[in-house]
Amino acid sequence: MMTMKVLLLMFLVSSAAGYHILCLHTTPSSSHYQLMRGIVNPLLEAGHQVTLITLFPEKKPATNLTIVDASHLIEYSKDIDVMDPDKFDIGVLKTFARNLAIGGVESAAVREAIVNHQYDAVVTEWFFSDLHAGFAAVQQAPWIMLSGAVLHLSTERLMDSVRSLSTIPDMFNIAPIPMNFWQRIANSIMYLVVTVDNWINFPSAKSDYESTFGPLAARRGVPLAPFEEVYNNISIMFVNSHPSYAPARSQPPNVIDIAGFHIDDNTPALPKDIQAIMDSSPQGVIYFSMGSIMKSTMLTEERKRGLLQIFAELPYTVLWKFETELDGLPKNVYIRPWMPQNSILAHPNTKVFITHGGLLSTIEALKYGVPMLIIPVYGDQPGNARRSVMSGLALEANFYENLVAEMRVALKELLANESYYKTAKSTSALFNERPVHTSKLITHYVELAIKTKGAYHLRSKTKLYAWYELMMLDQLFLVLAILYLLKYTAQRIIRLFSSKSSRTKKNQ
Ligand SMILES: *[C@@H]1O[C@H](CO)[C@@H](O)[C@H](O)[C@H]1NC(C)=O
Ligand SMILES: *[C@@H]1O[C@H](CO)[C@@H](O)[C@H](O)[C@H]1NC(C)=O
Ligand SMILES: *[C@@H]1O[C@H](CO)[C@@H](O)[C@H](O)[C@H]1NC(C)=O
Repeated sequence: MMTMKVLLLMFLVSSAAGYHILCLHTTPSSSHYQLMRGIVNPLLEAGHQVTLITLFPEKKPATNLTIVDASHLIEYSKDIDVMDPDKFDIGVLKTFARNLAIGGVESAAVREAIVNHQYDAVVTEWFFSDLHAGFAAVQQAPWIMLSGAVLHLSTERLMDSVRSLSTIPDMFNIAPIPMNFWQRIANSIMYLVVTVDNWINFPSAKSDYESTFGPLAARRGVPLAPFEEVYNNISIMFVNSHPSYAPARSQPPNVIDIAGFHIDDNTPALPKDIQAIMDSSPQGVIYFSMGSIMKSTMLTEERKRGLLQIFAELPYTVLWKFETELDGLPKNVYIRPWMPQNSILAHPNTKVFITHGGLLSTIEALKYGVPMLIIPVYGDQPGNARRSVMSGLALEANFYENLVAEMRVALKELLANESYYKTAKSTSALFNERPVHTSKLITHYVELAIKTKGAYHLRSKTKLYAWYELMMLDQLFLVLAILYLLKYTAQRIIRLFSSKSSRTKKNQ
């Protein structure tokens, strides 16, 4: 009786103390860091302990947050030039992602964090490699995945059979819905390429997993589960998506849309000078930021002059995030090396956001209902831009050619035609209409995965079937066999009768 009470007490104490969750941010990009922080923060607020392996270590982490410094991984990106289409393609990206993943597991601080501590759950981000499966496997803890993009072929296949193939264009297939015949063919070809690529790479992914995580499992004294069983053993997938802007799709109940989760609800107050500029611009403000992409060194003098010329002609205030000063600034243009983006987008006088169309900026514009002029440069930006244009939220300008002329036309149209502003506002209303706050979703599903030891009840059952069973080919085979048998029998009967009747005829 006494021991029962003690056990019960221990259980209560341990569940009240919160869980210890390992989160990994291993992609050398500040927007990916922002995304992982969007998961870490609500977990801390809910009273859990978090260990965060990150490339951007904070000096003074919050209470209950332990930082593991993996900043040396930034080295891996120094030879990558995402802006040079001749040197950057999906092959380069995958090799980079693989080296980064292996480098991550092999660093001493990361190994120490994995081997000497026990976590209740592991959160990783999908980035062109399945190697991260090993972290949860050697911890024998539920694996929670964050997908920084909307669901796409490579992440959908981890959670379910790929249901979207015939109805929803993939991330890199820029097509309207419904797709026509050739657009659907393009979708199928993309899926074929992803599938074949996975087949081809499977042996090397498996051997990477065994060679990097094998020693860690041995040091923890646990067997290393086979790669076939671990790489899709995902309990929960958080997806940076929402049906207000990404097409609604069938997805299993352990795939959770949380777009907007990286944005702090309490929009910070604007700095006094910017607040004053914006308040005194009731005719409207244009906010121009290419993130960290557009460096002054990349803009020719001619382009700089051209842009300032366009802005000078407009009866609006322009806030331009740009890292250096420019001389000869028109009096309606203000330049700062840093701008509080969300606070500016939230200001009611903001009329247009000129952006590179990165997913986070696109989502921020959606949240605050600001139409965009998008100048996509690389990666997912061209696709994001096209989709925003197709939704009536944005216009596009070409970064590489005729930038200034195209921007002039697009800006005039965006400011003259009310429809973009109205569409941005109505889409924003849809985007913000949620029954449950994203931070609540995050803590709920992480805790659920831990309490239920893997949220198996929410997982799709498609993994229990072979591909031909899912496509019902075996059933089709049975139907065809029956039809063939019927036809064969019918033919035999007909032949039998016709030969009988011809025989009777002969006999007559
Ligand atoms: C830190 O974690 C402990 C135990 O998990 C919890 O009781 C406490 O409330 C947390 N502190 C904060 C500031 O969240
Ligand atoms: C405004 O833009 C919308 C969407 O592009 C277009 O359908 C409409 O014709 C435009 N209106 C005018 C007056 O140009
Ligand atoms: C699959 O995940 C569950 C928890 O979600 C874990 O207990 C189990 O060990 C994992 N299986 C393998 C083969 O890694």
